[in-house]
Amino acid sequence: MTEHLTVVNHPLVQHKLTIMRNKDTSTAGFRRLLKEISLLLAYEVTRELDMTTTRIETPLQPMDAPTLDGKKLALISILRAGNGLLDGILELIPAARVGFVGLYRDPETLQPVQYYCKVPDRLDERICIVVDPMLATGNSSVAAIDLLKQSGAKNIRFLCLLAAPEGVQRMKEAHPDVPIVTASLDSHLNDHGYIVPGLGDAGDRMFGTK
Ligand code: URA
Repeated sequence: MTEHLTVVNHPLVQHKLTIMRNKDTSTAGFRRLLKEISLLLAYEVTRELDMTTTRIETPLQPMDAPTLDGKKLALISILRAGNGLLDGILELIPAARVGFVGLYRDPETLQPVQYYCKVPDRLDERICIVVDPMLATGNSSVAAIDLLKQSGAKNIRFLCLLAAPEGVQRMKEAHPDVPIVTASLDSHLNDHGYIVPGLGDAGDRMFGTK
């Protein structure tokens, strides 16, 4: 991917996102829509995967048919909200390997604190797609990608639902080689580090917590 930031302006994505933003949307509705949007975003983030051909036989004749090349993708979910995006993408790419990075945001400093990390082997040979619905300050995403690079990852993409300009800038400075795919670039962050207009706390909306 060549662009640092791709905003997926597809009508279906934008329509579903509007319902998710609405504070009156139920937990079940939010979760279902997140899954649906994740399929559409996954389509975009995987657009330029390497291809090869495989010899097959159709009922009519042999053919060299296009198939994905290289090692299985690694999907890396930043816990806990990343799991909402992960579930949808896994339906589309069931053979992908999956890793988890557990980071929480210290409410005072807004800095990420790591509590868990388990990622697939041979990250240096895989395309890694890091998923987290909200790119807010960018602190968690930058920390997660730091960890992946320490584990050898070289080809990384970042997929989110909403991005704030502050987070995009932070990612561009720390990881200019990591393209970002999102459904929306929102206005700004508020004093608590929430994306405005945003959709609130993605984890709480997804899991029905407060
Ligand atoms: N995390 C969220 O869940 N929402 C925001 O607006 C920012 C970070």
